[in-house]
Amino acid sequence: MSDRARRNRAAQQRARNLRRAMIAGLAVVLVLVVVIVAVSSRGDSEAAGPQLSELGQVGKETAVRRSCVGCHGRSGEGGAGNSGPKWVGLYGSTVTLDDGTTVVADRDYLIEAIVDPHAKQVAGYRQKMPVDSIPEADVLAIVQYIQELATPTPTTASGA
Ligand code: HEC
Repeated sequence: MSDRARRNRAAQQRARNLRRAMIAGLAVVLVLVVVIVAVSSRGDSEAAGPQLSELGQVGKETAVRRSCVGCHGRSGEGGAGNSGPKWVGLYGSTVTLDDGTTVVADRDYLIEAIVDPHAKQVAGYRQKMPVDSIPEADVLAIVQYIQELATPTPTTASGA
């Protein structure tokens, strides 16, 4: 092999190595971008609470409009100064009432708690929830919202 041919081969080898390095570098950058986008979008949805269905979102707005959030918290996290129980994680949980009995917070319980708040008293609250006549559509939307607050990522929500 001539000197010239050897130099040519070496140059080709260097070019190949460079291309490989560039492709590897590009792959690393791509993976980084995907990870950063995934992490930052997860941060967004966590800050805004769980993904809500359309009805769940209506329920959230209804709870603001009807001032429920004043006692139950803007994101259902519970009111300041023990003014109202939290809604997050309420659905499906076991609630202790002031007479010592317990009840599972299913749909019927939530509806009753809103429509007839004095029918059952949650233990540990000195203040009673005010009675108000609320249209059925509002009640059902809020109940849906409370259900979707049960878990961080509700399977019922479709608005992903
Ligand atoms: C003045 C404060 C206040 C307001 C306003 C209020 N609540 Fe309540 N709520 C309470 C308190 C206190 C309790 C717990 C004692 C009880 O059972 O009455 C409660 C209990 C509940 C429960 C049962 C919670 C549990 O842990 O079992 C639900 C559901 C509920 N409220 C929904 C609503 C909705 C919906 C609205 C708005 C239409 C609303 N509340 C407005 C104070 C309030």
